[in-house]
Parts: sequence; structure tokens; C-alpha cells
Amino acid sequence: MFFAALPFLLASALLAKGDSGVTTFNDYDSQGGVACSGFGSSNDQGNGIYAAALGDLSPLWTGPKCAGSIDGSKCNGSGGCNDCTGPSCAGEGQCGLCFSISCASSLDGETSGSCSGQSIVVKVIDACPSEHPENYCKTSQFGGNINPKECCEAPGVNAFDIATSARSALSSYQGNLNINIESISCP
Ligand SMILES: *[C@@H]1O[C@H](CO)[C@@H](O)[C@H](O)[C@H]1NC(C)=O
Repeated sequence: MFFAALPFLLASALLAKGDSGVTTFNDYDSQGGVACSGFGSSNDQGNGIYAAALGDLSPLWTGPKCAGSIDGSKCNGSGGCNDCTGPSCAGEGQCGLCFSISCASSLDGETSGSCSGQSIVVKVIDACPSEHPENYCKTSQFGGNINPKECCEAPGVNAFDIATSARSALSSYQGNLNINIESISCP
């Protein structure tokens, strides 16, 4: 029994190396502030590392979720918010950690363009809270038309929001991406 199971266990350990998820893109240079204290709101985090936010419904998220609630009265009924104040994310456990990210495919089914085959390094400096009106108001439940995966509203999906400056390094697609994710030490 033990010997029969061994090759399978070895194979699963090798295959379990990475995770999958999705990414949207954000311009941290114009954002002005981030959830992780001690980090600057800039796309370039030095040493060739790009800024990223992690969605608080992501399996990779650690620590308590951002401290909000979903309140449809904050939504304008067509994808936007009237009261756009977001929750605090003081317990985000992944702040300052790095991931190697590569493109797996277009998330929106784009037929022209391709993944670059290149991996980039991102550092988590921000959060993408599922209970932020700028996110949940975009879903069809509140009159928006955005895929829940593309506004940090899909439970069980690792959702990154990576610096716009990383877009062309990952792929030549115009929109959002399915990604491969590997936890690494920051270089
Ligand atoms: C709702 O908000 C969105 C995003 O800000 C905006 O584009 C849209 O015009 C607003 N709609 C209404 C009806 O106010």
C-alpha cells in the first residue's frame, strides 16, 4: 500500500507547485494609497517587481477579510457607486509577499493576441475587497455587467490586480487574463 501510493504522492507534490487565478490591471501610480502599510502606491516596487492587490475572496488570502459589508444602496444601478467608500483591510496577511505570475490565456476569450511565455514578479501591496462598492456594484446583482472574476467577487478564485505597466510583459491581449501563480521569496 505504502509503496504503491508513493509515486502518486510524488507526482501530486510536483503538480501542486503552483496555483491558478485571474488578473485585472490597475494604475497604482495614480491611485494615491494602498491597503498595506509601509508600501508606496506605485506600479514599480523596485528590483523589477510590479505592484499587485490580492482579492479578499482568494484562496491565497490570509488573515481576516476586509471589514466591510455589501450594501446595494451604495450602487447607482448601472455598474457604478454613489457612495464609493471602501472597507479597511487592516488584517491582510499577504502584504509584502511575492509571487511569480505568468499568463495562461485570455480571460475574455480574445482571439487575437497571445501569452508572452514570460514570468513576472509581483509584490502584494494592496487589497481588492469584495465588499468595496466599486467592486460589488459592477456585478449583475446590482445592475452592472462585469464578470465576478474581474471585480474580485468570485469566491474560490485567486484574484490579482496587477500594475498596468506589467500588461505587455505578460501578453499581447488587451484585456484581463487567466494566470499561473507561484509563491516565491521576493528577489
Ligand atoms: C453609474 O456609475 C457609472 C460608473 O461611475 C457611470 O459610468 C454611470 O454613468 C452611472 N450611472 C448613473 C445612472 O448615474
